[in-house]
Amino acid sequence: MEPNVSKFANVNKVTTHVLQEMKLKNEKIAMLTAYDFSMARLLDKAGIDVILVGDSASNVMAGHTSTLPITLNEMIYHATSVIRGVKRALVIADMPFGTYQGNSKEALSSAIRIMKESGADAVKMEGGREILESVDRILSAGIPVMGHLGLTPQSIHKFGTYVVRATEENEARKLVEDAHLLEKAGCFGLVLEKIPAKLAAEVSRSIRIPVIGIGAGPGVDGQVLVLHDMLGITQEFSPRFLRRYHNLSEEIQGSVRSYIRDVKTLDFPNEREQY
Ligand code: KIV
Repeated sequence: MEPNVSKFANVNKVTTHVLQEMKLKNEKIAMLTAYDFSMARLLDKAGIDVILVGDSASNVMAGHTSTLPITLNEMIYHATSVIRGVKRALVIADMPFGTYQGNSKEALSSAIRIMKESGADAVKMEGGREILESVDRILSAGIPVMGHLGLTPQSIHKFGTYVVRATEENEARKLVEDAHLLEKAGCFGLVLEKIPAKLAAEVSRSIRIPVIGIGAGPGVDGQVLVLHDMLGITQEFSPRFLRRYHNLSEEIQGSVRSYIRDVKTLDFPNEREQY
């Protein structure tokens, strides 16, 4: 049994206000992705603070090579499944590509569908100034929004590669401006993905809302990883920032090989495993 390292372990339900309190009290926020009921239930029972129903589902659940193809209906399906397994964690659902860029009225109706149909607690959106009108409109409907800056995978065709972002001064300056704009608009938190640790720490110090990093170093208010990466289910993806806590891909394949052997050798089912 792991020792309890959280002052917030007795909180019945993590809300956006609890996250704010965690930042004020210097307690780091632990966030992971989940896309289904069974995994979400395990994460929640283990005491995770935040579950992100990420559009990384497009990659790890559906096998696409980017996050672009996943649809609003598919995201709602994943978020609904996650919500059924969660009692304590705050659940944030990603707004998928194409449902909020460009038209703020459509953005609001996409966000309302996510909240109404899945029961998620909040939505996450990628981008800064370009999506501010959509962010404003969604916030004005009382829907909590988390921002996402730095490497924003929905813009992969603009970036051309998944390398570290904001290493150049211009891009770093825009990122800092965007972070302040999103805070001022009323976002409750911000994800910073794959940017220099020094810049991420600077942003986290300069805004009051919690900043969650992925490949953004230790100077932020919390960390997020994709569940399938940290459990070692995905093997092809090995960025420097990823810590693997398990090698589930080996374990699952080992179990499946044993099952195949047992079936083929008539070892399974045995006398106790039948009626
Ligand atoms: O979709 C996702 O999993 C994400 C995280 C990488 C932050 O946006």
